[in-house]
Amino acid sequence: MQADALAQVRALDTQLTADPSTLAGVPPAPVATLVIFGAGGDLTKRLLMPALYNLAAAKLLDPAFIVLGVDRVAGDDEVFRGHQGEAIDAFLAQRGSHAAAPEATAWPWLRERLFYLQGDLTDPRTYEAIGWRLEERGRSDPAGGSAVFYLAVADRFFGPIIDHLAEADLLNENGRAFRRAVIEKPFGHDLASAKALNARILKVLDERQIFRIDHFLGKETVQNIMALRFSNGIFEPLWQRDHIDHVQITAAETVGVETRARFYESTGALRDMVPNHMFQLLAMTAMEPPNSFDADAVRTEKAKVVQAIHPLTEAQAVECVVRGQYGAGALGDAALPGYREEPGVAADSRIETYVAMKVGIDNWRWAGVPFYLRTGKRLATRKTEIAIHFKQAPFALFRDTSVEKLVPNILTLRIQPSEGASLQFSAKVPGPVVRLGGVTMEFRYADYFGAVNSTGYETLLYDVFMGDATLFQRADNVEAGWAVVQPVLDAWAAGQG
Ligand code: BG6
Repeated sequence: MQADALAQVRALDTQLTADPSTLAGVPPAPVATLVIFGAGGDLTKRLLMPALYNLAAAKLLDPAFIVLGVDRVAGDDEVFRGHQGEAIDAFLAQRGSHAAAPEATAWPWLRERLFYLQGDLTDPRTYEAIGWRLEERGRSDPAGGSAVFYLAVADRFFGPIIDHLAEADLLNENGRAFRRAVIEKPFGHDLASAKALNARILKVLDERQIFRIDHFLGKETVQNIMALRFSNGIFEPLWQRDHIDHVQITAAETVGVETRARFYESTGALRDMVPNHMFQLLAMTAMEPPNSFDADAVRTEKAKVVQAIHPLTEAQAVECVVRGQYGAGALGDAALPGYREEPGVAADSRIETYVAMKVGIDNWRWAGVPFYLRTGKRLATRKTEIAIHFKQAPFALFRDTSVEKLVPNILTLRIQPSEGASLQFSAKVPGPVVRLGGVTMEFRYADYFGAVNSTGYETLLYDVFMGDATLFQRADNVEAGWAVVQPVLDAWAAGQG
């Protein structure tokens, strides 16, 4: 990708959450057809359409852009437009009063660019029909045949859809038309299946055409970890084993399994969150500075640090990992069912809804510094954060005072719900005797940059159209994550832990 185009993508990444009218100078994405497989599903309504709406409001889509929604369910363009319109209404209502006013023309603009194709994902005729559509679009302008195939479907369809696209010769890029595939998670179920899926799709697609999504990378504050570390002189010298005692990475949710029991019963918290989202946070925190923002430079550093996680022995896979499952409880006055009472969950399910683990990174920067990861559903608070705990100062000076212990220095990077960062340190409590109190310096995103209006998918979709894969997982990133958790999956499958 050209350096100036890349700079523009970066400018957009930082500006997308701001008022769309401030996006002057950011170029619209090149013309393309966004083919969404699973267009009738939840992801399309909840995230993709609102993100496209925001991109349309910011005038970042080409006038000739269209969406071709593909799904099994009977329907036509008008029905599809109606359903997506309801989704946009719900998105705007939920976005609340502190958001910028809805852009009046964005929805009509997007609405007339939505088209629907009823088709079975396993039937070659579906792909023939998509092919005709793209061919027709490329007839007057070769670039008009560019397409992004978005696989918003259950993971068992990933391989078959890519195979069908290849058989129908829809993945070949000729002339100026690009062909790209966006693959949602879960990317594999374990190390072997992730490798098999990578091998299968890499037979017919070049790595640069593949965009494996991890939606955590669309979050502004996750991207901000790189800005915080590498654009400030004060943090990086401390960012290593001499100064850091340990790191805690938490993704705690208050929601339960909701309507996803079918998926979750064969997944669980470890597979659902750790090799992907949690390791992305770990990689952003622990990677070496990349040479540039180039996609491969960033992804190489991320792969290196995850590959450097100390492989868990059989014993460590049991000792360093704990799992749990939520029982019945209450939220205020409302009684909440335990996991096993949730609709669709087996009464004797052993699926974990909570997992915590300790890992070490075998490299010069991090040797001996434990990283504690924990994630779970139906926990007391919703928070995703990275807490860097620094080593204690020597206590000597305070030995003969009333100070009994020092407050630890903790730099907390808050990903959600209140995005920002805080630094905890000690200060003297005013008065004649020496007493120390813990105080906190706070930075809140909202105070500086206003309320965040984006879904996180805007940046990711825009980057796909621009061909910038920095925020997407490369094959080795995905496999490195699975390799770390595989001993745990094996131990659990053998009834241990
Ligand atoms: C998804 C998981 O990938 O991430 C869900 O499948 C989880 O189980 C979700 O709830 C968390 O994402 P966020 O953005 O709500 O923190």
